[in-house]
Amino acid sequence: MAGIGSRQMDDATAGTGARRARVLTGYRPTGPLHLGHWFGNVLNMLSLQQDHDAYFFIADWHALTTDYEDTSGLLGNVEGLVLDWLAAGLDPERSTIYLQSALPEVAELALLLGMVTPLSWLERVPTFKERLRDLAEREIANFGLLGYPVLQTADITIVRGELVPVGEDQLPHLELSREIVRRFNRFYGEVLVEPKALLSETPMIPGLDGRKMSKSLRNDIGLRDDPDTMRSKVRRMVTDPEKVRLGDPGRPEICPVFALHRELSPDILGQTEAGCRAGTLPCVQCKSNLADRMIVHFGPFRERRAVLEDDPKLAAQALAQGEEKVRPLVEQTMGAVRRGMRLA
Ligand code: TRP
Repeated sequence: MAGIGSRQMDDATAGTGARRARVLTGYRPTGPLHLGHWFGNVLNMLSLQQDHDAYFFIADWHALTTDYEDTSGLLGNVEGLVLDWLAAGLDPERSTIYLQSALPEVAELALLLGMVTPLSWLERVPTFKERLRDLAEREIANFGLLGYPVLQTADITIVRGELVPVGEDQLPHLELSREIVRRFNRFYGEVLVEPKALLSETPMIPGLDGRKMSKSLRNDIGLRDDPDTMRSKVRRMVTDPEKVRLGDPGRPEICPVFALHRELSPDILGQTEAGCRAGTLPCVQCKSNLADRMIVHFGPFRERRAVLEDDPKLAAQALAQGEEKVRPLVEQTMGAVRRGMRLA
Protein backbone atom coordinates (compact mmCIF):
# COMPACT_ATOMS: atom_id res chain seq x y z
CA MET A 1 0.00 0.00 0.00
CA ALA A 2 2.93 2.28 -0.67
CA GLY A 3 2.02 5.86 -1.22
CA ILE A 4 -1.36 5.99 0.42
CA GLY A 5 -0.36 6.15 4.05
CA SER A 6 2.47 8.54 3.72
CA ARG A 7 1.09 12.05 3.91
CA GLN A 8 3.36 14.14 6.09
CA MET A 9 2.34 15.54 9.44
CA ASP A 10 2.63 19.11 8.35
CA ASP A 11 0.02 21.04 10.26
CA ALA A 12 0.87 23.45 13.03
CA THR A 13 -0.49 21.33 15.84
CA ALA A 14 1.01 17.99 14.84
CA GLY A 15 3.10 16.61 17.65
CA THR A 16 2.50 19.58 19.92
CA GLY A 17 -0.34 17.94 21.80
CA ALA A 18 -2.80 20.71 20.92
CA ARG A 19 -6.18 19.17 20.26
CA ARG A 20 -7.52 19.52 16.77
CA ALA A 21 -11.25 20.00 16.32
CA ARG A 22 -13.11 16.80 15.53
CA VAL A 23 -14.85 16.85 12.20
CA LEU A 24 -17.07 14.11 10.83
CA THR A 25 -18.76 13.38 7.58
CA GLY A 26 -20.57 10.39 6.14
CA TYR A 27 -21.18 9.23 2.60
CA ARG A 28 -23.89 6.93 1.37
CA PRO A 29 -22.38 4.19 -0.82
CA THR A 30 -24.64 4.65 -3.81
CA GLY A 31 -22.07 4.21 -6.59
CA PRO A 32 -18.83 5.48 -8.08
CA LEU A 33 -17.79 9.04 -7.21
CA HIS A 34 -18.22 11.70 -9.88
CA LEU A 35 -16.96 15.23 -10.51
CA GLY A 36 -19.74 16.68 -8.40
CA HIS A 37 -18.47 14.75 -5.38
CA TRP A 38 -14.88 15.66 -6.20
CA PHE A 39 -15.31 19.41 -6.34
CA GLY A 40 -18.19 19.49 -3.89
CA ASN A 41 -16.78 17.30 -1.06
CA VAL A 42 -13.63 15.35 -1.68
CA LEU A 43 -11.33 18.36 -2.04
CA ASN A 44 -12.81 19.73 1.16
CA MET A 45 -12.24 16.41 2.95
CA LEU A 46 -8.61 16.40 1.81
CA SER A 47 -8.05 19.81 3.28
CA LEU A 48 -9.93 18.93 6.49
CA GLN A 49 -7.74 15.91 7.13
CA GLN A 50 -4.73 18.24 7.20
CA ASP A 51 -5.73 20.25 10.22
CA HIS A 52 -8.61 18.44 11.91
CA ASP A 53 -9.19 15.21 13.75
CA ALA A 54 -11.14 13.84 10.81
CA TYR A 55 -13.69 11.00 10.79
CA PHE A 56 -14.92 9.86 7.39
CA PHE A 57 -17.36 7.00 7.38
CA ILE A 58 -19.49 5.11 4.91
CA ALA A 59 -23.16 5.31 5.81
CA ASP A 60 -24.28 1.94 4.48
CA TRP A 61 -27.36 1.83 6.72
CA HIS A 62 -28.39 5.22 5.37
CA ALA A 63 -28.21 3.82 1.85
CA LEU A 64 -30.82 1.27 2.95
CA THR A 65 -33.33 3.96 3.90
CA THR A 66 -34.26 4.13 0.23
CA ASP A 67 -32.53 1.18 -1.47
CA TYR A 68 -33.56 -1.61 0.86
CA GLU A 69 -35.13 -3.94 -1.64
CA ASP A 70 -32.22 -4.92 -3.83
CA THR A 71 -29.09 -4.81 -1.70
CA SER A 72 -26.93 -6.90 -4.00
CA GLY A 73 -24.72 -3.96 -4.99
CA LEU A 74 -24.12 -2.59 -1.51
CA LEU A 75 -20.88 -4.35 -0.52
CA GLY A 76 -19.36 -3.62 -3.91
CA ASN A 77 -20.28 0.04 -3.58
CA VAL A 78 -18.72 0.21 -0.13
CA GLU A 79 -15.48 -1.22 -1.39
CA GLY A 80 -15.51 1.00 -4.46
CA LEU A 81 -16.03 4.09 -2.34
CA VAL A 82 -13.15 3.24 0.00
CA LEU A 83 -10.83 2.81 -2.98
CA ASP A 84 -12.08 6.07 -4.53
CA TRP A 85 -11.33 7.85 -1.25
CA LEU A 86 -7.87 6.34 -0.96
CA ALA A 87 -7.04 7.10 -4.58
CA ALA A 88 -8.15 10.69 -4.00
CA GLY A 89 -5.67 10.98 -1.14
CA LEU A 90 -7.69 10.36 2.01
CA ASP A 91 -5.22 8.82 4.37
CA PRO A 92 -6.31 6.03 6.74
CA GLU A 93 -3.36 6.80 9.01
CA ARG A 94 -4.19 10.41 9.38
CA SER A 95 -7.99 10.24 9.23
CA THR A 96 -10.32 7.68 10.71
CA ILE A 97 -12.13 5.91 7.89
CA TYR A 98 -14.75 3.33 8.84
CA LEU A 99 -18.00 1.61 8.01
CA GLN A 100 -21.14 2.59 9.90
CA SER A 101 -22.52 -0.95 10.12
CA ALA A 102 -19.29 -2.22 11.70
CA LEU A 103 -20.39 -0.34 14.82
CA PRO A 104 -23.64 -1.86 16.14
CA GLU A 105 -23.52 0.74 18.91
CA VAL A 106 -24.57 3.33 16.34
CA ALA A 107 -27.86 1.47 15.97
CA GLU A 108 -28.21 1.24 19.74
CA LEU A 109 -27.69 4.97 20.11
CA ALA A 110 -30.10 5.69 17.26
CA LEU A 111 -32.74 3.60 19.02
CA LEU A 112 -32.24 5.49 22.27
CA LEU A 113 -32.23 8.89 20.55
CA GLY A 114 -35.45 7.87 18.84
CA MET A 115 -37.13 7.69 22.24
CA VAL A 116 -36.65 11.40 22.87
CA THR A 117 -37.30 12.61 19.33
CA PRO A 118 -40.79 13.98 18.71
CA LEU A 119 -42.40 12.59 15.56
CA SER A 120 -43.36 16.10 14.47
CA TRP A 121 -39.68 17.14 14.27
CA LEU A 122 -38.99 14.33 11.81
CA GLU A 123 -42.09 14.86 9.72
CA ARG A 124 -41.18 18.44 8.95
CA VAL A 125 -37.66 17.74 7.62
CA PRO A 126 -37.66 19.03 4.01
CA THR A 127 -35.60 16.14 2.58
CA PHE A 128 -38.07 13.67 4.10
CA LYS A 129 -40.98 15.43 2.46
CA GLU A 130 -39.16 15.47 -0.88
CA ARG A 131 -38.26 11.79 -0.66
CA LEU A 132 -41.84 10.94 0.15
CA ARG A 133 -42.88 12.70 -3.01
CA ASP A 134 -40.19 10.89 -5.04
CA LEU A 135 -41.23 7.54 -3.68
CA ALA A 136 -44.94 8.19 -3.88
CA GLU A 137 -45.77 6.14 -6.95
CA ARG A 138 -43.62 3.13 -6.33
CA GLU A 139 -43.15 2.55 -2.66
CA ILE A 140 -44.40 2.94 0.84
CA ALA A 141 -43.00 5.47 3.25
CA ASN A 142 -40.80 3.41 5.51
CA PHE A 143 -39.94 3.93 9.16
CA GLY A 144 -36.20 3.87 8.37
CA LEU A 145 -36.51 6.86 6.07
CA LEU A 146 -38.36 8.87 8.68
CA GLY A 147 -35.61 7.96 11.14
CA TYR A 148 -32.80 9.02 8.79
CA PRO A 149 -31.88 12.14 10.79
CA VAL A 150 -31.99 10.22 14.08
CA LEU A 151 -29.51 7.70 12.73
CA GLN A 152 -27.42 10.58 11.43
CA THR A 153 -27.47 12.16 14.90
CA ALA A 154 -26.20 8.88 16.32
CA ASP A 155 -23.37 8.86 13.73
CA ILE A 156 -22.27 12.30 14.80
CA THR A 157 -22.68 12.07 18.55
CA ILE A 158 -21.18 8.60 18.99
CA VAL A 159 -17.77 9.99 18.02
CA ARG A 160 -18.47 13.33 19.76
CA GLY A 161 -18.30 15.10 16.42
CA GLU A 162 -17.93 18.85 16.87
CA LEU A 163 -18.03 20.01 13.28
CA VAL A 164 -19.99 18.57 10.39
CA PRO A 165 -19.27 19.90 6.91
CA VAL A 166 -22.60 20.39 5.20
CA GLY A 167 -24.06 21.96 2.14
CA GLU A 168 -27.16 24.14 2.40
CA ASP A 169 -29.47 21.20 1.73
CA GLN A 170 -28.21 19.28 4.77
CA LEU A 171 -28.57 22.20 7.20
CA PRO A 172 -32.03 21.20 8.45
CA HIS A 173 -30.66 17.75 9.35
CA LEU A 174 -27.92 19.26 11.43
CA GLU A 175 -30.27 21.69 13.12
CA LEU A 176 -32.44 18.72 14.04
CA SER A 177 -29.40 16.87 15.42
CA ARG A 178 -28.66 19.84 17.64
CA GLU A 179 -32.23 19.86 18.92
CA ILE A 180 -32.17 16.14 19.65
CA VAL A 181 -28.88 16.50 21.55
CA ARG A 182 -30.23 19.39 23.63
CA ARG A 183 -33.34 17.44 24.51
CA PHE A 184 -31.35 14.33 25.39
CA ASN A 185 -28.95 16.29 27.58
CA ARG A 186 -31.84 18.06 29.30
CA PHE A 187 -33.19 14.69 30.46
CA TYR A 188 -29.99 12.79 31.20
CA GLY A 189 -27.24 15.36 31.85
CA GLU A 190 -24.49 16.75 29.63
CA VAL A 191 -23.73 13.47 27.94
CA LEU A 192 -23.66 14.30 24.23
CA VAL A 193 -21.74 16.99 22.36
CA GLU A 194 -23.82 19.42 20.32
CA PRO A 195 -22.41 19.47 16.78
CA LYS A 196 -21.97 22.60 14.69
CA ALA A 197 -22.36 22.94 10.95
CA LEU A 198 -19.25 23.73 9.00
CA LEU A 199 -20.81 25.47 6.04
CA SER A 200 -18.65 24.87 3.03
CA GLU A 201 -19.07 27.15 0.07
CA THR A 202 -18.95 24.50 -2.58
CA PRO A 203 -19.55 25.23 -6.23
CA MET A 204 -22.63 23.79 -7.89
CA ILE A 205 -21.22 21.31 -10.38
CA PRO A 206 -23.60 20.88 -13.28
CA GLY A 207 -24.00 17.56 -15.04
CA LEU A 208 -24.25 16.89 -18.76
CA ASP A 209 -27.78 18.28 -18.96
CA GLY A 210 -27.05 21.38 -16.88
CA ARG A 211 -28.85 20.16 -13.78
CA LYS A 212 -26.82 19.47 -10.65
CA MET A 213 -24.56 16.49 -11.29
CA SER A 214 -26.02 13.37 -9.77
CA LYS A 215 -25.89 9.69 -10.42
CA SER A 216 -29.63 9.28 -10.20
CA LEU A 217 -30.11 11.87 -12.96
CA ARG A 218 -27.58 9.93 -15.07
CA ASN A 219 -25.86 13.17 -15.98
CA ASP A 220 -22.58 12.50 -14.23
CA ILE A 221 -18.96 12.26 -15.30
CA GLY A 222 -17.32 9.60 -13.14
CA LEU A 223 -13.87 9.95 -11.63
CA ARG A 224 -13.24 6.44 -12.89
CA ASP A 225 -14.45 7.15 -16.43
CA ASP A 226 -11.74 6.42 -18.96
CA PRO A 227 -10.46 9.25 -21.19
CA ASP A 228 -12.67 8.32 -24.14
CA THR A 229 -15.77 8.25 -21.98
CA MET A 230 -14.89 11.62 -20.47
CA ARG A 231 -14.40 13.11 -23.91
CA SER A 232 -17.64 11.76 -25.33
CA LYS A 233 -19.60 12.88 -22.28
CA VAL A 234 -18.19 16.41 -22.50
CA ARG A 235 -19.12 16.44 -26.19
CA ARG A 236 -22.73 15.66 -25.20
CA MET A 237 -22.97 18.48 -22.66
CA VAL A 238 -25.61 21.12 -23.17
CA THR A 239 -24.43 24.69 -23.74
CA ASP A 240 -26.09 28.09 -23.89
CA PRO A 241 -29.28 27.29 -25.86
CA GLU A 242 -29.18 30.71 -27.53
CA LYS A 243 -25.76 30.08 -29.00
CA VAL A 244 -26.92 28.10 -32.00
CA ARG A 245 -24.69 29.06 -34.90
CA LEU A 246 -20.98 29.61 -35.05
CA GLY A 247 -20.46 33.31 -34.41
CA ASP A 248 -23.42 33.65 -32.04
CA PRO A 249 -22.28 35.21 -28.76
CA GLY A 250 -22.59 32.88 -25.78
CA ARG A 251 -23.23 33.41 -22.06
CA PRO A 252 -20.54 31.63 -20.05
CA GLU A 253 -22.35 32.36 -16.79
CA ILE A 254 -25.19 30.02 -17.73
CA CYS A 255 -23.14 27.43 -19.62
CA PRO A 256 -22.43 24.11 -17.82
CA VAL A 257 -19.29 23.63 -19.91
CA PHE A 258 -17.92 26.92 -18.65
CA ALA A 259 -18.82 25.97 -15.06
CA LEU A 260 -16.46 22.99 -15.42
CA HIS A 261 -13.82 25.17 -17.09
CA ARG A 262 -13.87 27.25 -13.91
CA GLU A 263 -12.69 24.23 -11.95
CA LEU A 264 -10.36 22.70 -14.50
CA SER A 265 -8.94 25.36 -16.80
CA PRO A 266 -7.26 28.19 -14.91
CA ASP A 267 -4.77 28.47 -17.77
CA ILE A 268 -7.36 29.42 -20.39
CA LEU A 269 -10.28 30.70 -18.34
CA GLY A 270 -10.00 34.33 -19.48
CA GLN A 271 -9.70 33.56 -23.16
CA THR A 272 -12.48 30.96 -22.96
CA GLU A 273 -14.85 33.49 -21.45
CA ALA A 274 -13.88 36.20 -23.92
CA GLY A 275 -14.05 33.87 -26.92
CA CYS A 276 -17.47 32.60 -25.88
CA ARG A 277 -18.90 36.09 -25.40
CA ALA A 278 -17.45 37.29 -28.69
CA GLY A 279 -18.77 34.24 -30.52
CA THR A 280 -15.31 33.44 -31.84
CA LEU A 281 -14.80 30.26 -29.82
CA PRO A 282 -16.92 27.42 -31.22
CA CYS A 283 -18.56 25.21 -28.57
CA VAL A 284 -16.93 22.16 -30.15
CA GLN A 285 -13.49 23.65 -29.58
CA CYS A 286 -14.39 24.86 -26.10
CA LYS A 287 -15.53 21.34 -25.17
CA SER A 288 -12.44 19.75 -26.61
CA ASN A 289 -10.28 22.11 -24.50
CA LEU A 290 -12.27 21.09 -21.44
CA ALA A 291 -11.98 17.36 -22.15
CA ASP A 292 -8.20 17.69 -22.61
CA ARG A 293 -7.81 19.28 -19.21
CA MET A 294 -10.24 16.94 -17.48
CA ILE A 295 -8.41 13.88 -18.78
CA VAL A 296 -5.05 15.23 -17.60
CA HIS A 297 -6.42 16.43 -14.28
CA PHE A 298 -7.84 13.06 -13.30
CA GLY A 299 -4.97 11.04 -14.76
CA PRO A 300 -3.19 10.59 -11.41
CA PHE A 301 -6.48 9.58 -9.75
CA ARG A 302 -7.17 7.03 -12.47
CA GLU A 303 -3.70 5.55 -12.17
CA ARG A 304 -3.74 5.32 -8.40
CA ARG A 305 -7.21 3.85 -8.48
CA ALA A 306 -6.09 1.15 -10.91
CA VAL A 307 -3.14 0.23 -8.70
CA LEU A 308 -5.30 0.04 -5.56
CA GLU A 309 -7.79 -2.11 -7.41
CA ASP A 310 -5.11 -4.80 -7.73
CA ASP A 311 -5.05 -5.43 -4.00
CA PRO A 312 -8.33 -7.20 -3.14
CA LYS A 313 -7.84 -6.77 0.62
CA LEU A 314 -7.00 -3.09 0.69
CA ALA A 315 -10.49 -1.68 1.26
CA ALA A 316 -11.24 -4.12 4.07
CA GLN A 317 -7.88 -3.36 5.67
CA ALA A 318 -8.45 0.37 5.61
CA LEU A 319 -11.90 -0.05 7.17
CA ALA A 320 -10.57 -2.41 9.83
CA GLN A 321 -7.89 0.11 10.72
CA GLY A 322 -10.51 2.84 11.12
CA GLU A 323 -12.81 0.62 13.14
CA GLU A 324 -10.01 -0.10 15.56
CA LYS A 325 -9.28 3.61 15.95
CA VAL A 326 -12.89 4.62 16.48
CA ARG A 327 -13.91 1.80 18.81
CA PRO A 328 -12.58 3.21 22.14
CA LEU A 329 -14.42 6.45 21.51
CA VAL A 330 -17.64 4.62 20.68
CA GLU A 331 -17.44 2.55 23.83
CA GLN A 332 -16.74 5.60 25.92
CA THR A 333 -19.73 7.48 24.54
CA MET A 334 -22.06 4.52 24.92
CA GLY A 335 -20.93 3.97 28.49
CA ALA A 336 -21.83 7.56 29.28
CA VAL A 337 -25.16 7.27 27.47
CA ARG A 338 -26.18 4.07 29.29
CA ARG A 339 -25.18 5.51 32.63
CA GLY A 340 -26.91 8.80 31.90
CA MET A 341 -30.14 6.98 31.07
CA ARG A 342 -29.74 4.71 34.09
CA LEU A 343 -29.60 1.67 31.88
CA ALA A 344 -26.32 0.73 33.48
N1 TRP B 1 -26.83 12.47 4.93
C1 TRP B 1 -25.52 12.30 4.33
C2 TRP B 1 -25.68 12.23 2.80
O1 TRP B 1 -26.74 12.38 2.29
C3 TRP B 1 -24.86 11.05 4.81
C4 TRP B 1 -24.64 11.00 6.30
C5 TRP B 1 -25.08 10.04 7.13
C6 TRP B 1 -23.93 11.95 7.10
N2 TRP B 1 -24.71 10.28 8.40
C7 TRP B 1 -23.99 11.45 8.42
C8 TRP B 1 -23.25 13.14 6.85
C9 TRP B 1 -23.39 12.13 9.48
C10 TRP B 1 -22.66 13.81 7.90
C11 TRP B 1 -22.73 13.32 9.21
O2 TRP B 1 -24.74 11.99 2.11
